[in-house]
Amino acid sequence: MIEILLNLQLLAPFFLFLFLFLPLLFFFSSSSFKNKEAVPAKDIVTIPKSYPLIGSYFALKGIGNRRIQWLSDLVQISPAATFTFHRPLGHRQVFTGNPANVEHILKTRFSNYQKGSFVISTLSDFLGTGIFNADGNTWKFQRQVASHEFNTKSIRKFVEQVVDAELSDRLLPIMASAAQQEQTLDFQDILQRFAFDNICKISFGFDAEYLTSSVERSKFAVAYEEATEISSKRFRELFPFWKVKRALNIGSEKRLRMAVREVHEFAKNIVREKKRELKEKETLESVDMLSRFLTSGHSDEDFVTDIVISFILAGKDTTSAALTWFFWLLSKNPRVEKEIVKEIIEKSEAPVYDEVKHMVYTHAALCESMRLYPPVPTDSKEAVDDDVLPDGTVVKKGMLVTYHVYAMGRLESIWGENWAEFKPERWLQKDESGKLKFVGKDYFTYPVFQAGPRMCLGKDMAFMQMQSVVAGILRRFTVVPTVAEGAEPNFVAFLTSQMEGGFPVKIIERETSN
Ligand code: HEM
Repeated sequence: MIEILLNLQLLAPFFLFLFLFLPLLFFFSSSSFKNKEAVPAKDIVTIPKSYPLIGSYFALKGIGNRRIQWLSDLVQISPAATFTFHRPLGHRQVFTGNPANVEHILKTRFSNYQKGSFVISTLSDFLGTGIFNADGNTWKFQRQVASHEFNTKSIRKFVEQVVDAELSDRLLPIMASAAQQEQTLDFQDILQRFAFDNICKISFGFDAEYLTSSVERSKFAVAYEEATEISSKRFRELFPFWKVKRALNIGSEKRLRMAVREVHEFAKNIVREKKRELKEKETLESVDMLSRFLTSGHSDEDFVTDIVISFILAGKDTTSAALTWFFWLLSKNPRVEKEIVKEIIEKSEAPVYDEVKHMVYTHAALCESMRLYPPVPTDSKEAVDDDVLPDGTVVKKGMLVTYHVYAMGRLESIWGENWAEFKPERWLQKDESGKLKFVGKDYFTYPVFQAGPRMCLGKDMAFMQMQSVVAGILRRFTVVPTVAEGAEPNFVAFLTSQMEGGFPVKIIERETSN
């Protein structure tokens, strides 16, 4: 009860605001509604006007589910690829696609740009203080412990085995059966389930059996998905109504509480089981992340539970988002698909990482696909103190500064006039012997995996997984979207990007497969 009262007290200014300005909100809201369907063409996009108190609220509201694209258009038309967006109640947020600003935020002045209290408080019911949701020393300690484990040869070997097994025992048979029965699959859903099973095995040695839909086991997956969805939707609210719902334990917040409880209890049981096993045997046979933490002396139950739950979030929808858009782009670019299939046949007979890791063309095609459709399309930091960005943009303490990865992949100043083309060749060069060599971009120009001290820890693991999946699938099948001719799927994003409404496909067995 005290908690409820405290929360209501904190929210009093919002109620006051709503009471005074609700009629105004309604008026503007209904008038902008008429243009709801309007898609801003690049040449008529303008930086939205800002009004006292409401800022540019209605410009954003009228955009509907094209928020990422609209903000991207604004970054593209802004001088130095940076603009300041005015949120209600005088809050301002900087959006930038300028590599010099990105380097400043993510590296040069790293300590001034943190996850911050807005992000951390929004996700803390679910993620606690896990690596994904921590700053300062809490983050630093987890980063040190985790990066040590991510860099061992044995974890790479383990990940390879997990991915290979999930691929050959589950994913490929599902596709073969769909091909035989001429069934339509939601390929995005399949790839998400595949990634979930993999990351659970890697993180804490548990087989979630989400791809095979074992009802009993996938309870954990269902609770995890629900917790992710509701937590990420909290970010969409311009006013934090979720705090009221949480205080009253109603609606989505009630469901979140139940889902989070289920996820935490489940993870804690696994931690306890492993600890018991460790007491009896002194060493653990399994080599998943959790076992590694426990055997290297990190036995605090809350610490390991939080870190493992964060890993699952990091690895769950990122690789699947990348692969969903990758297969979409391949279907529109048969020339690229042909090149990849040629490379697969040349380089690998089995989807084993030792063989697929030398597939430079496939690697380039994956980078190119994530340039246009990044799995994490925007990322925000909170300024600890006043600052000025390299392009002269003024940042005030507490402001959110967002680098717009999706926009950066579309900047003519970085990628040239043909930025809209899907062209893996931009990542390749021939060496003296005529062999193709991969040429990467610097991480601040292509921050798909973030950059600086907080750069993604799972990048290599992700490429390994994606290359194995591409090799395993394309060697045997063609993935054919069943969307209407000329239709473009919509790119939407909560924490990670998604194809709105799923990705319906037919699977065709290749004639050359054996
Ligand atoms: C294509 C796939 C992936 C992409 C594009 C990607 C991208 C990112 C990005 C942008 C961040 C920074 C997020 C932030 O701080 O707000 C991040 C962090 C992280 N990623 Fe990935 N990721 C991918 C796959 C994975 C996988 C498979 C794992 C394995 C567990 C993983 C583990 C992590 C971890 C632990 C962090 C937190 C690092 C820290 O805060 O110090 N990622 N990733």
